[in-house]
Amino acid sequence: MQMHVNLDYRQHNWRLGFHLQTAVGWLSDPNGLCQFNGEYHIFHQYAPRWPWAGHGWGHWTSRDLTTWEFHRGAIIPEMELDKNGSYSGSAVVRDGQMWCYYTGNVLAPGKHNYDYEGRQANETLVISEDGRTFSDRKLVLGNDGYPDYCSCHVRDPKVWWQNDTWNMLLGARTMDDHPAMLLYQSPDGVNDWKLAGSCTTISGEPFGYMWECPNIVSLGGREFFFVCPQGVPSQVTKFQNNFNSGYFPVEGTVIDLLSGDPDLMDAEKPYGCIDENTFVELDYGFDFYAPQVFTDEKGRQILEGWMGLPDIEMQYQVPTYEWLHTLTWLRELSLNEAGNICQWPLPEYDALHGDRVEFTNEGAADSCGKLGTSNYDAFCICGAKGAKFANGTADVYLKGIEGEGRLMLNGDLELVVIGDMIELAFHGIAGGYRTVRRLPVAELSAGKLEDVRMVVDTSAVEIYINGGEKTMSTRWWPQEITNLSVTSTFNAEETYAYEMGRFTFLNVC
Ligand code: FRU
Repeated sequence: MQMHVNLDYRQHNWRLGFHLQTAVGWLSDPNGLCQFNGEYHIFHQYAPRWPWAGHGWGHWTSRDLTTWEFHRGAIIPEMELDKNGSYSGSAVVRDGQMWCYYTGNVLAPGKHNYDYEGRQANETLVISEDGRTFSDRKLVLGNDGYPDYCSCHVRDPKVWWQNDTWNMLLGARTMDDHPAMLLYQSPDGVNDWKLAGSCTTISGEPFGYMWECPNIVSLGGREFFFVCPQGVPSQVTKFQNNFNSGYFPVEGTVIDLLSGDPDLMDAEKPYGCIDENTFVELDYGFDFYAPQVFTDEKGRQILEGWMGLPDIEMQYQVPTYEWLHTLTWLRELSLNEAGNICQWPLPEYDALHGDRVEFTNEGAADSCGKLGTSNYDAFCICGAKGAKFANGTADVYLKGIEGEGRLMLNGDLELVVIGDMIELAFHGIAGGYRTVRRLPVAELSAGKLEDVRMVVDTSAVEIYINGGEKTMSTRWWPQEITNLSVTSTFNAEETYAYEMGRFTFLNVC
C-alpha cells in the first residue's frame, strides 16, 4: 500500500525544530543515556546507510539540552563481535569513565533461520575516558553463557550496581517462543558474569514472545521493572501498536524477583515469575518504543523513548524520504499520589519558549473550513478558541479542563474526549496509514481529563495528560508545515501556548 502525498519530499521534508534528527538514515532506540562530567550523552541505534542494515550507535552531546552536537557513529559494527549490528545497550559512569554495554549481533554465513540457530548475541563492553573516543571492544558474555532454553534472541544489556555487585538484565525469547528476562552478576563488571536469576510470566501464558530493552527504576522506595514486550495481541484500548512498552511495579526488588534460591534454578525454564496483569503501558500514542532510563548528576531519573516502531518501516519511509525517526524529549519520572509513574519534560526545554500566546475566539475563526475532512464534521465548534503558529511549532497548555471537547491541529490530528474515551485521531493523510489510538478515561487516576500539554514540533507531537500520568507520542505529516493552527473546544480555566525556538544543531547538515 502506498501513501498518497502530493508533496516534493526534498523541499518538504518535515525536519524537526527541537527533536534530534540525523541528516540521513535510520535512528531508533535510545542507548547509553548518561551524564558524564556534566555533559549529557544520548546514543541511539543509527544506520546511516539505511535501508542497508548495519545498526551502530549514533552519538549526541549537550550541556544545556538545547544545543546538541552530533558525533556521528560512536560504535560502528565492523568487528567479529558485532559485524551485523552493534545493538542496544546501556552506559554506566564509574571511576571517571563511561562504560557502554551493548549486544553485538553476528549472523552465521549460509542458510539459517536466525531465530533458533545461526546467530550470536555478544554482550560487549567499550570504555570511554573522554566521552568522545572508545576503547577496543571486549566480549563479556556470549551464547555459551545463556541457558539452554533461550533462542538466539538475547539482548539489550541494562547494567547497574546494586547489592555490592554488578548486575545485568538481558531480554530474551525462549526456544518455545515465550518471553524471559535474565539476570547476570559479576564482581567487577567485566569478568565472571554468572546467571543469577531469570523470570517469565506467572500464568505460564505468554505475554508476547520476546521482551526487549529492560530498565530498572526506583521511585518512592519502590522498584519498577521496565520491558518492551513484542507480540502481545492488540486490543481496542490496549497494546494498540505492533510492539509495546511499559513497566511492572515490583514487590521488593527486581533482583529478589529474579534470583530466589540458585540451587532451585531450573536449567529447563525461567525461574522467577511476574504477574503480567500488573503491566502498565507507558504511552498511548502511535509512535513510542524502546524507552531507556538514566539518572543524571542532579539525581533525576529521566526517560527518553524512540518515536517510532520496528518492523513497520513502510509507514515512515515515504514521508521523510531520506531520514527516519526521532527521539522524545527527555522526561523526568516521578510518582503521583495514586502511585503511578508520571513523565514530564525537563524544565531545561522551557528555554525554547518564546512569546506566550492566549487562545482567542478570533484565533479559531477560520478553523471551521479546515475541519471539512474530519469524521466528526457535525460537532459544534461554537466558542472554540485557537491560535496560529507561523513556524509550525508550539508548546500548548490546557489547564483545569471540564467535560468533553477536542484539541485540533490543523483539522488533521485531534485529541478528543467523547464520553469515557480519549482518542487521538487522524483525519486524512496526515497520519499515513494510521487512524486512532484510544485511552479510556478510567485509566486516569483522577477519573477525568484535567490538563493537557501538547508539544508540537513540525512532524512530532508529544502529549502529556494530567501531569504526565499518561502520554501519547506520535509523528504526523501535516500538509501545512509552517502555518500551524491549534484549536480547542474544551472548557478550560486556561488555554495558552508558547511559540517555540529551535535547538542549535551542531554538525548536522
Ligand atoms: C528494539 C530493538 C532491540 C535491538 C535493536 C536493534 O527496537 O529490536 O531489541 O537491540 O532494536 O536495532
